[in-house]
Amino acid sequence: MTAINDVTTLTRDGDIAIVTLNSPPVNALSAKVREGLFEGFKQAIADDQAKAIVLICEGRTFIAGADITEFGQAPKGPGLHEVQQMIEDAPKPVVAAIHGTALGGGLEVALVCHYRVAVPSAKMGLPEVNLGLLPGAGGTQRLPRVTGVEKALEMMTSGRHASAKEAKESGLADEIVEEGKLLDGAVAFARKAVAENWPLVKIRERDDKVAEARGKPEVFEAFRKSVARKTRGFLAPEYNIQCIEAAVNLPFDEGMKVEAKLFRELVTGSQSAAQRHVFFAERQVAKIPDVPKETPLIDIKSVGIIGAGTMGGGIAMNFANAGIPVTIIEQSQDRLDAGLGVVRKNYENSAKKGRFSMDEVEKRMGLLQGSTSLEDLADKDLVIEAIFENMDVKKDVFGKLDKIVKQGAILATNTSALDIDEIATATSRPEAVIGLHFFSPANVMKLLEIVRADKTSKEVIATSMALSKKIGKIGVLVGVCPGFVGNRLLAQRQREANKLILEGAMPWDVDRVLFGFGLPMGPFAMSDLAGLDLGWNKETSKGETLRDLLCERDRRGQKTGAGFYDYDENRTPSPSKEVEELIRQYAEERQFQQRDISDQEILERCLYPMVNEGAKILEEGKAIRTSDIDIVWIMGYGWPRYEGGPMWWGENVVGLDKVLAKMKEWDAADTSGTGVFKPSALLEKAVADKVSLQKALEG
Ligand code: 3HC
Repeated sequence: MTAINDVTTLTRDGDIAIVTLNSPPVNALSAKVREGLFEGFKQAIADDQAKAIVLICEGRTFIAGADITEFGQAPKGPGLHEVQQMIEDAPKPVVAAIHGTALGGGLEVALVCHYRVAVPSAKMGLPEVNLGLLPGAGGTQRLPRVTGVEKALEMMTSGRHASAKEAKESGLADEIVEEGKLLDGAVAFARKAVAENWPLVKIRERDDKVAEARGKPEVFEAFRKSVARKTRGFLAPEYNIQCIEAAVNLPFDEGMKVEAKLFRELVTGSQSAAQRHVFFAERQVAKIPDVPKETPLIDIKSVGIIGAGTMGGGIAMNFANAGIPVTIIEQSQDRLDAGLGVVRKNYENSAKKGRFSMDEVEKRMGLLQGSTSLEDLADKDLVIEAIFENMDVKKDVFGKLDKIVKQGAILATNTSALDIDEIATATSRPEAVIGLHFFSPANVMKLLEIVRADKTSKEVIATSMALSKKIGKIGVLVGVCPGFVGNRLLAQRQREANKLILEGAMPWDVDRVLFGFGLPMGPFAMSDLAGLDLGWNKETSKGETLRDLLCERDRRGQKTGAGFYDYDENRTPSPSKEVEELIRQYAEERQFQQRDISDQEILERCLYPMVNEGAKILEEGKAIRTSDIDIVWIMGYGWPRYEGGPMWWGENVVGLDKVLAKMKEWDAADTSGTGVFKPSALLEKAVADKVSLQKALEG
């Protein structure tokens, strides 16, 4: 065995040379790994006794891509293209042996090998788009040459990982070898290639698959249309498409030039910087400074949920999906049956869409039990209360749970509004009480706000964080405050949106600006979707708010064909003359000056107060990091990843000084006496010291 450097070794098994990488955690292509590959291959090629070369990785995965931490730094060591050229031009067969994930630059290295073998659990993909990038090491030119244009378009604009089976079917993998026997399988494959004198396949020389799309621009236009809504404002998908067009229409080397040019543009731009921030933020969020990794976890073998409504049912599905049995409690058998019926329907719909089999529906339903007695929760490891928002009722429930549920269990509330410290006082074990704030629909939305109350124990926090991962959620630890993090920021936007339409902007103006920014929907379209009559009552309506007036006219949202917008039979919205009149009259009666409001002002008024509120949340210690707030809004409210989250955007796209200046200006002009625009002290400090909010927070 020859140690090439501390992450690479070269060995030989008879006539097969083996280059092994071992650079934890994911064998990313750091300068050291590139250097190891370069030297390792150089020696393997020079070794006359070696008739073929296998490239394999140790640890959990094959190469998972370029080293993202190196972006933006001066290049060191051999470049990836140099390494790839040496591999592709090797005068003997090179076989990539893939386990775990071959992603991005990792797959691009595998694509310059002459052959690829993989174990059944391996995955392959070009996920650069998720970092606001495109594959910059020939992936855009080689993938379509292997899989054809349509699959390449779909894989590169979604960033999806293909299974080994799919990779074999599409030609990405040449052979699947037995799980756990990758090296043996790859060596045997290489020996066969030598014995049978197989050609040294260079994907760059292939033309058949891309030729199929030549002279057919409609293929690309149709694809652009199909992804337009998802990719609006986001550069990377379009740039990926342009590279595949180049692969089809230009010779390989020219296509590579297009790839290099567009990659450079993306990697130096703000959208990719934002998405790299999000990548690390998603991983950072699980790290809680005062809850060490070694904190013992409570074994959650069974769960109880109180309430079989939309929320309770959705929450229950998460656990059943993860194979954890759930007992759902309702007050009556009828409600229980109705709730479980909705869950079954959801599962059946998923099965109809081909997500899983009907057997799987039964398996998951088999994990859900109903009961009308709280006593049935006695032996549960975790109980989640998901009933309506009323402090007295919740305290009553928690008082009962305290007497019924075994010691050591977690008692959680799904409240989105109430004070969890107060709920905890209803028990004799406040250390067991925590908030698990799921977002609707709870079986779909990725975000879980994990709300730490004053006395919540570290074990309960650590277990909740681990559990969020197990049920496929991103858990963000936040503190008790009105609206927690997500809704507290949302309230800022909502207040300003409501004011803007009294000052002269129309609901569709506000929605258009926020949709154009990249949010999934503006606040008024959202209200129409949810129903304006949520919490509204005909008998008690005082006709005081715009909402009252709209509901009284039976404009209660999409379901009544009218709300802030008019809707046709396909629920397509259009601006409403009636609403415009109504708003103008309402504003006039209340002496609001109506004026022209620019799109820029709409954006600033809706979003800057969110940044300011985020800073207040941080200074109050209700979120640990600026990036945690970003994750809440990306995962729970659809803030575009390429804008990095509200805090990153405020800091890196707008500039904290600009946000602060506006807050001061609005605060000075504000006569409401509410102080809603009062600048956050942390924001002021960060601007004064010319540091980031995170730095200012850390002192
Ligand atoms: N560069 C640097 N660090 C990386 C990395 C990368 N490409 N991929 C993962 N890491 C780090 C993570 O930050 C994390 O660090 P931490 O433990 O300090 O938080 C650690 O590796 C483990 O990562 P995960 O927690 O994500 O581990 P999982 O096992 O859950 O997932 C994975 C593994 C599927 C490989 C996932 O990490 C992943 O998707 N990585 C990114 C893959 C990617 O985007 N590759 C393309 C890079 S861009 C590129 O290649 C450009 C090229 O075309 C030129």
